[in-house]
Amino acid sequence: MPQTIAVLDFGSQLTQVIARRIRECQVYSKIYHYSTPAARLRAENVAGIILSGGPQSVYARKAPHPDPAIFELGVPVLGICYGVQLMGRFLAGEVEHSKAREYGHGVLTIRKPGKLFAGLPKKLRVWNSHGDKLTRLPPGFHAIGTTENSPYAAIEDVQRGFYGIQFHPEVFHTERGVDMIRNFLLGVCGAKQDWTTRDFIAHAIEKIRAQVGQGRVILGLSGGVDSSVAAALLHKAIGRQLTCVFVDNGLLRKDERAHVEQLYQRHFHIDLRVVDASALFLRRLKGVSEPEKKRKIIGRTFVAVFEKSIKSIGHVEFLGQGTLYPDVIESVSIGNNPASLIKTHHNVGGLPKRMKLKLVEPLRELFKDEVRRVGSALGLPREVVWRQPFPGPGLGVRVMGDITADKLEILRNADAVLHHEMMTSGYYYKVWQSFCVFLPVRTVGVFGDERTYDYVIAIRVVESTDAMTADWTKLPHALLQRISSRITNEVRGVGRVVLDISSKPPATIEWE
Ligand code: XMP
Repeated sequence: MPQTIAVLDFGSQLTQVIARRIRECQVYSKIYHYSTPAARLRAENVAGIILSGGPQSVYARKAPHPDPAIFELGVPVLGICYGVQLMGRFLAGEVEHSKAREYGHGVLTIRKPGKLFAGLPKKLRVWNSHGDKLTRLPPGFHAIGTTENSPYAAIEDVQRGFYGIQFHPEVFHTERGVDMIRNFLLGVCGAKQDWTTRDFIAHAIEKIRAQVGQGRVILGLSGGVDSSVAAALLHKAIGRQLTCVFVDNGLLRKDERAHVEQLYQRHFHIDLRVVDASALFLRRLKGVSEPEKKRKIIGRTFVAVFEKSIKSIGHVEFLGQGTLYPDVIESVSIGNNPASLIKTHHNVGGLPKRMKLKLVEPLRELFKDEVRRVGSALGLPREVVWRQPFPGPGLGVRVMGDITADKLEILRNADAVLHHEMMTSGYYYKVWQSFCVFLPVRTVGVFGDERTYDYVIAIRVVESTDAMTADWTKLPHALLQRISSRITNEVRGVGRVVLDISSKPPATIEWE
């Protein structure tokens, strides 16, 4: 059994971020329920323990508490935020209950670098989010760092290898936070840096096989990064026990279906079923122009088609999904998170309940960049691994107003030109998204000796890091000129090309 760093989860949304930082240091870690008995941790060869943050007060009636014996295992412990309060509470310090939370940036002054802060500058910006506060150190501890509001922002007990930090080293807003975690892992716990993407894959394969046994798994392949990587990983684990279903909803980009067939059937030899449901989708969408209504129809039709194809396959026990950790957070943070709304459109989440399928989600703990690394290691090409996001409802929300086969054809052809130019200029991988939008507006033009009365295509190219905000990309004029003249010359039905120069907010990335 590999040497493990145990992350005890006290309910913080940041627990997975801690695990992710540990992976970044190439150290193997596992997240455990906060109440995991110390004996189990010992049996699992734990080399160090990290106590996560958590939303509760240590004094709350139902506050999550660890097995006190974890402090007697003889392995180092790092308490983060709530984890420090627990150390205060369990190791005979004093913790003051506070109703107000300290939230936001602070400046950490390192008083004694020791092992935790080795190699770091004396002052660092750190990010706080805590309620309770340590007011007296447990015996054996010393303060090694202070902030404006706390003389005990960082504490250590060198003898036992116990460390506590009030702020969150795992978040991006804490300067050199990963170095602090690395120092704890390597300098304090003596952990080995031998956990790589290949190890993740090997481990995931074992887990998939253990879960699935001889059962059959079905996976809806969209061609996007997440479902593609999930398919490649599942296929490596269980081969022909996996069946992928690709639904052609008629709202795909040019040649997309052929690319998917080529890659998964011919290259990976995956059992891929392509269902051509384009006529059904178009029929149901006929005359519908309201964006949310379109999305609902597309979502429902997808589920119906997918469900039918499962039935035709025979007995299936499992549903494979490319759920990533950010999706997990989004699906638990209810209400005001627009990202969670976005996900609902494309979610096949209703399926397992009705069809009694068990979920297999091998990417559930990973973040997008990690999934990309896994995809590359599995041999997926760059065009798949680094593909731009594409909305579930596809071109359905890029044809403004009601959708017809003719309009889709025009949009597809224009989009293919843009895609080609973005690829050959190298801009495709530099921007967040680049696509065309079909405007059902006819404008006058001249073509040769004739007057024309044709549609308008809008070009939308944006930069973003998370799709929550975005700015339009200032493509070189020469490139814009080429895109525009190629579209107006090569795509029948388009008389004019316009450029969208709106940022998000107030505009959104998509037009519908
Ligand atoms: P907006 O247009 O809201 O888009 O700025 C933000 C990101 O979400 C994508 N998007 C969708 N993805 N189903 C999806 O799966 C949808 O209905 C949907 N609408 C927007 C959009 O492409 C961008 O990346």
